[in-house]
Amino acid sequence: MEYSELIKNRYTVRDFKPDAIPQDALEKILTAGQIAPTACNKQPQQIYIVSKPELIEKMRGITQCAYNAPVILILAGRKSEAWVNPFDNKDSTETDVSIVATHMMLEAANLNIGSTWVGWADLERIKKEFELPSDVTVYGLLNLGYASDASVPAPQHSDRKPLNETVSEL
Ligand SMILES: Cc1cc2nc3c(=O)[nH]c(=O)nc-3n(C[C@H](O)[C@H](O)[C@H](O)COP(=O)(O)O)c2cc1C
Repeated sequence: MEYSELIKNRYTVRDFKPDAIPQDALEKILTAGQIAPTACNKQPQQIYIVSKPELIEKMRGITQCAYNAPVILILAGRKSEAWVNPFDNKDSTETDVSIVATHMMLEAANLNIGSTWVGWADLERIKKEFELPSDVTVYGLLNLGYASDASVPAPQHSDRKPLNETVSEL
């Protein structure tokens, strides 16, 4: 699909078929994240795959935004591995992880696999309950799976501010 069509057609999926994602499709999605740009190419991202039934159940107990996705990626990173801007001392981990996640989300769409980017969750609790290493920070989740036949974009999908409210010529 044309890139401009792909980004127009993508929408946040919140109702999934129970079908698993084929392994080769999951690998393509993860590889799309691997080739994402990161500041100074430091690649601080850590992506954890949650697909075992008991772990999916655990995630559904922590956040209602796991919905009924058959695969959930935990989007995390190691601040100690990220580039730090010397002017303000801010590390780029969250930005880097967000770009990695965007690459994965769009590759999923390219493979006709739906996704939900989830920020509404107790991310510290996820880190604790999934026993992630102490030096990683969790930034969100990316639910993955085939959209159910009933799935449609939410009304806010087509609600975008006009460009003149978000872009200015200086
Ligand atoms: C950082 C971020 C966090 C989000 N968190 C959630 C969430 O917790 N639950 C959810 O259902 N959707 C979540 N979304 C999806 C947005 O609500 C969605 O992208 C937005 O409403 C536009 O709709 P669209 O993706 O269908 O175009 C999140 C998206 C982003 C980028």
